[in-house]
Order: sequence, then structure tokens, then C-alpha cells
Amino acid sequence: MNVGRRAFIGLVASGSALLHGGAGDARTRASARSGGRPPGRFALGTCLEMHHVESDPRLAGIVGARFAEVTPEYSLQWSSFEPAEGRCRFGQVDRLVAFARARGQAVHGHALLWEQGTPGWGTPDWVKARLADAPDWALVRRRFETVLGRYGTAIPAWTVVNEAIETGDRADGLRANAFLRAFGPGYIPAAFETAAELAPGARLMLNEYGLEYANPVDAARRRAALALVESLRRRGVRIDAFGIQGHLDLGKGRIDARGLARFLAELAGLGVEIRVTELDVQERDLALPLAERDRRVADETARFLDVVLDQPAVTGVTTWGVSDRFSWLRGDYDAIRADPGPGTAFNRGLPYDAACAPKPMADAIARALDRRVAGL
Ligand code: G3I
Repeated sequence: MNVGRRAFIGLVASGSALLHGGAGDARTRASARSGGRPPGRFALGTCLEMHHVESDPRLAGIVGARFAEVTPEYSLQWSSFEPAEGRCRFGQVDRLVAFARARGQAVHGHALLWEQGTPGWGTPDWVKARLADAPDWALVRRRFETVLGRYGTAIPAWTVVNEAIETGDRADGLRANAFLRAFGPGYIPAAFETAAELAPGARLMLNEYGLEYANPVDAARRRAALALVESLRRRGVRIDAFGIQGHLDLGKGRIDARGLARFLAELAGLGVEIRVTELDVQERDLALPLAERDRRVADETARFLDVVLDQPAVTGVTTWGVSDRFSWLRGDYDAIRADPGPGTAFNRGLPYDAACAPKPMADAIARALDRRVAGL
């Protein structure tokens, strides 16, 4: 992909802005606003929930000034959005879309379908019960019609299926979730076809985790993910993008730089755009000195981004949050209650600490973005 230097100048501005404040680059925002993903553009994004942003002006300031794209962390998930049949909770998402629009930011819709077994995560129990009784695609279609009907114009890109891979479940590597049990593997192409019909102008993404490390499970997940994208493309299903979540983990050993680079190149060879969608770092030793903890997180971030940003088909990076305070990677609950400050109790796997001060991870992201420009 011939990505213009101009696009990356915006990237550098975003990268540096991540550290030093100031408005994110207009060019990056402009490209983000125009759907965020026309080939040759790049967006630096993050996820948020409006009640977090509304409760912390520092957080709101950072999100609004330094990121070109935002993803609702969970308020668009079916379980949060429609916890009971027909009772949709539009408020959080409406406010997030308005927040982004006021700041020239793009919104990524996450996720139309996700079911991985955790109660209250992704798909509500009432849907799982209905599908187990009588597999009826009309129920799924109505979810798409409700969400894409309301946000299909305001939100230009969507995770259509989240985490469809689970290599321990089936020979084809697909997760035996409620949708697969109800409809078979065909639920995945059907979801993309339904989304393409209802939101013809949207960019449609498959999003996966566990692809980054040098171990047999991640290697198997990379193979299964590639096979799934190949099968969708072979069937003529429109899949525009692939999301590599990027949940890094200091306890998982070595990032598989060669395996990951090869995986990204093969995905790019299938003609899909690639995004890092949920970058954060799980720590494994909170007893270390703070400077050492932050160095380890920053170094792992740099190792990962150096591989992914070397692939021109990667057109954006989204961190899974801004501040450790609101990360799903909570750290030590008891210590947090005892020490609610920005200190050592939180998992320090996001660019900013619990008091919204930038950490070495923010610098690592900015430097990785700058290196990408230098490599042009
Ligand atoms: O804030 C409410 C609280 O008021 C309420 O009492 C409680 C019980 O209902 O729920 C709380 O909200 C929960 C929220 O986490 C904050 O704890 C939501 O129910 C819960 O669904 C939400 O979990 C999110 C999870 O996805 C499921 O949607 C996490 O924040 C979010 O980080 C996580 O993100 C996933 C990606 O979507 C997919 N990839 C993995 C990633 C991490 O698991």
C-alpha cells in the first residue's frame, strides 16, 4: 500500500500529541472522520465509556485532543445495549457519537456479534436462550437493523464478528459459541453479508486476540484466523479489515516477531486492511519498582509496534483505554481501595497513569509512530 508521507506526518503529530498535548493533527482527524480508513490513511484511537469521560475532565481532555478515533468499550455490546428484549439503551452510545462528532473524531462500532461464554459479556442471556430454543436469524438481523439503522451513518466502521476463533473447540479453529451452535459456521459470512446489506458504505472488520506470541496456541490462532479470512474472501464475502487486538502480556514470553510479521503479510496479501484494535499490557509483577514496571510495559509495547507498524497494510492503532484507572486490567483490588492514587496498585498497561499523567508507554507509542515515518 502506497501510504503518502502526508498521512504519516499526521501520524507523527498524533504520536507526539500523545505525549505533549495539543490538538491531534487535523489531517489525521480529517481522514478519520471520512470513515477513518480510506487506503493510505492512519488513525490513532482509544476506547472509552462516556461515564468515565464525564467523570474525569483530565481524561476527557486527553481523549478529545490526542486521539483521532474512539471505540465504545462495551456500551455497544448486545448485552449492554439491549439487556432485555426490546429495551435498548441508546444513551451512552448517543453521547459517545456526539462527543466524537464535536471533536472531529471517527467512531468504531464494537461489536455487532460477540459470544465467548462469559455471562453479561457480548451477547445477553435472553438471546442465548432464544437461539438455543429456536435458531432464528431474524433475531440476529433485528440486532443489526436496530444498531446499523441508528448508527450506520455516524459510525463508518464496525467489528461485525468479535473473537470467532477458539482453536481448542473445533478442527476448523472456530469458537463453538451460541451463534455457531445455532447456525453453524455460516453465521460468520451471514453476519458480514447482513452488515454489508444494511450498511453498504461501512468498513467491516473481523477482530481477534491471542495472535502475538511465540507459542503453539498463538501460532494455531494465527493459522485459523488466516484460514477464516481466506474462506470469507473465497466466498466473495466483503471483509474490509482485520483487527489484531494487541492485548500484550508480560507473562506470555516472547513476541513472535517473525510469525507475526508473516501473518500480517499474508493478511495484507488477501487485500484486507489491518488495525491494532485493543492495545494494552498485562503486567505480571506489581512488586517491582515503578520505573522498572513502566520500562517493561514500554519495551513490550515498542517490540510489538515495531513489528506491526512495519506492515504498510496496518492503518491504525487503538489503545484499549487511556488511563490505568479505567482499564479492564485492574491490578490489585485491595491495594487500589487502600491507595486510590496513581501509584502502584493499578495494572500500568495503558499510556497514562491513574492520574492521567503520561508514562513511558506513551513515549514508546509516539516513538514507534515516528519510526514508521522515518522508514518511509
Ligand atoms: O459499570 C457497570 C456497573 O455499574 C454494574 O454494576 C456492573 C454489573 O452490571 O457492570 C459494570 O459494567 C461492566 C464493565 O465491564 C465495567 O466493569 C460491564 O457490565 C461489562 O460488560 C464490562 O466488561 C467489558 C467486557 O469487554 C465485556 O463487554 C470490559 O470493560 C471490556 O474491557 C472488555 O473488552 C473486551 C473487548 O470487547 C473484546 N476483546 C477483549 C476485551 C477485554 O476483555
